[in-house]
Parts: sequence; C-alpha cells; structure tokens
Amino acid sequence: MARIEADDLRKVFRRPDKGPGLAGSLRHLVDRRYTEKAAVDGISLRVEAGEAVAYVGPNGAGKSTTVKLLTGILVPTSGEVRVNGIVPHRHRIENARNIGVVFGQRTSLWWDLPVRDSLELLRDMHGLGAAEYRTNLDRLVEMLGIGDILSSTARRLSLGQRMRADLAAALLHDPPIVYLDEPTIGLDIEVKDRLRAFLRQVVADGTTLLLTTHDLGDIEDVCSRLVIIDRGRIVHDGGLRQVIETYARERVMHADLATRPASLAGIATRLAGATVTEERDGLALAVAFDPLAHTAGDVLTAIQSEVDVVDLRIEEPAIEDVVRRMYAGQLATGPDAPPAS
Ligand SMILES: Nc1ncnc2c1ncn2[C@@H]1O[C@H](COP(=O)(O)OP(=O)(O)OP(=O)(O)O)[C@@H](O)[C@H]1O
Ligand SMILES: [Mg+2]
Repeated sequence: MARIEADDLRKVFRRPDKGPGLAGSLRHLVDRRYTEKAAVDGISLRVEAGEAVAYVGPNGAGKSTTVKLLTGILVPTSGEVRVNGIVPHRHRIENARNIGVVFGQRTSLWWDLPVRDSLELLRDMHGLGAAEYRTNLDRLVEMLGIGDILSSTARRLSLGQRMRADLAAALLHDPPIVYLDEPTIGLDIEVKDRLRAFLRQVVADGTTLLLTTHDLGDIEDVCSRLVIIDRGRIVHDGGLRQVIETYARERVMHADLATRPASLAGIATRLAGATVTEERDGLALAVAFDPLAHTAGDVLTAIQSEVDVVDLRIEEPAIEDVVRRMYAGQLATGPDAPPAS
C-alpha cells in the first residue's frame, strides 16, 4: 500500500472581493462577490513506503496547502486523498498517529513550557507507554543533540534549537510518515548540515518523507525523488539528479579578498568555462562554475593563486530559478519553439 495517495486533489479558496476601505466592506455586505483561487489544482501523487520526496515550487505554488490536506487540517474541494489508507480530514486523530509534521514557520511546542514538558504532553496525547517514550526520546535527544535544551522554555530557544525541538516533538511517536514544510528556513549552514544528517538517518530508518523546501541543498542531501509544483499543478515528478544536472548545474562562489587583484584574467584562464566577476569594488569576486567541470576546491585554488581569500560562500541555485529554467527549456524544445538559427 502506498503511504500517500492523492487523486486529482483540488483545494479552492474563496476570497471576498471587496473594494477598499469601509465603503467597500459595506458594499460587500449587500453584494457579496468572491474570487476563487485553486491553490491545489488537480494533484495526483503516490508515495510508497520509505520514499523521500522533495515537494518544491515557487512561492504560492500550493505546497503548504497540499501538506495541510494531507494532515487533514484542510478539507479538499474535490478529489481523493488517503494517507496510510485513511482519509485525513475524516479521521484526523487516527491520521495524526501515523504522521509527524513540522511547519518551519510555526512551532508545535508550548511557548511557556520547558521543552521536556511539551514532549510529555505529546507523550500523553499519543498514549505512548513509559518504555516506548524513553526509548524514542533518548534516541531523538542523541540524534538531534538537544539534551541541554530540554529544560528551557520554547520561547527562549534560538531558531535552530527550536527547530530541533520541533522535530523531536513531531517524531516522538515514531510515525511512519513525516511531512516537513521548510524545516531549514532561516537556519545557518552548520545547523542545516546537522538537520540534513538527521533527516538522512530518519529516511534510512524507513520513514516516508515529504520535504518542502526552497533550499536545493536540503533535497540533494536527503531526497531521491523530486516533485515540482507550480500554480497548484505538478510540473515535474521524477528523479532528482537529472533535473539538477540539467537546470541547476551552476554554482557561484563569492570570495572576500584581502586585497584587490591586479587582474581577473589569470583566474579565468585556470577555470575554463567559468565566469569571474568583480564585486564590492574589487574587494570581492564571484565565480560562476559548473561543479561537474570544477570542484569548489579548484575554484578556491585558482582564486588563491592570484590573491588571498578571507572568506567565502557558495550559492546554490534557488528552486525558483530551476522552475524558470525548466519552463524556458520546455519552450525552447516544444512545438512552438522558434526555428533554430
Ligand atoms: N487560507 C487561505 N485562504 C485563502 N487563500 C489561501 C489560503 N492559504 C493559502 N492561500 C493561497 O493559496 C496559494 C497557495 O498557498 P500555499 O501556502 O500553499 O503556497 P506555498 O507553495 O506553500 O508557498 P510558499 O513557498 O510561499 O510557502 C497562495 O496563492 C495563497 O495565497
Ligand atoms: Mg508554504
């Protein structure tokens, strides 16, 4: 049995179509008009047990709405959805036993309680036995490195600490299915790395994962299947590597320099195919490169052959760029494409 089955799933939101100000609100009382918007517009998806699926798309594409339909928070306008064989919005409580959810923008912890107390409340809500609770908690505390924050209130945690505590809360009852909506948003790179390692472990343990993110690094590390949605519809469902290699090859290394280099030509010569541009009045530079042609180490070595580097950062393509390039690629090869000159 597939863990997640959605069949032509739609969710239409109705928004009051009001004019501005009080006059508009009053007019709306007597003449109600609405604009309808399909946030999820006919999504069909099957996710098998143990799969790790990246669910990505531009802002407003309908990702969070899909996750809410899968948790049963929202009722679909039409279509079918089953999670572990259960219709989520009809059996929210039973569905909740099977799933763990993290919405990165919000917390499911009680702000003014120590994290440990929040976890104990969740233990009671899920009806976990003492031994099971101990085993699961010990494991999560160890994997997430949260032993020293259990006695802090959620309010006092840093974003990265809070996210780790939220993950522990979501996974405490050892659910077979986990949805994570932007779990690394706003985190610095070290915390991200730690979370990604944790997620790899969760997937290796056989959990089915649906991961929503704007960060390509998250999905490269954790997922094997990529579903891209745009305006409520699936525009790609398949392997991850091929899409990344086709549309998201380019990386950009930004390096802060100790001094202004005499010329950029030497660097460019060492890195065939890369583009070197000056930034910050010559005290920094950006090198756009193809990671299959040059490693980040090669790029750094090439820069350092000319000038000392004091800091660096590597920029990965944004999901938005990938989607834009996919459309551009389809246009360029589609039936309406202009003839090649
Ligand atoms: N409760 C709601 N009422 C009305 N419209 C909504 C509601 N929730 C979402 N929408 C609209 O539905 C569309 C999809 O929203 P959704 O939050 O699912 O996007 P998303 O893909 O998660 O975007 P983001 O990357 O910004 O998180 C958006 O146009 C949004 O404005
Ligand atoms: Mg969202």
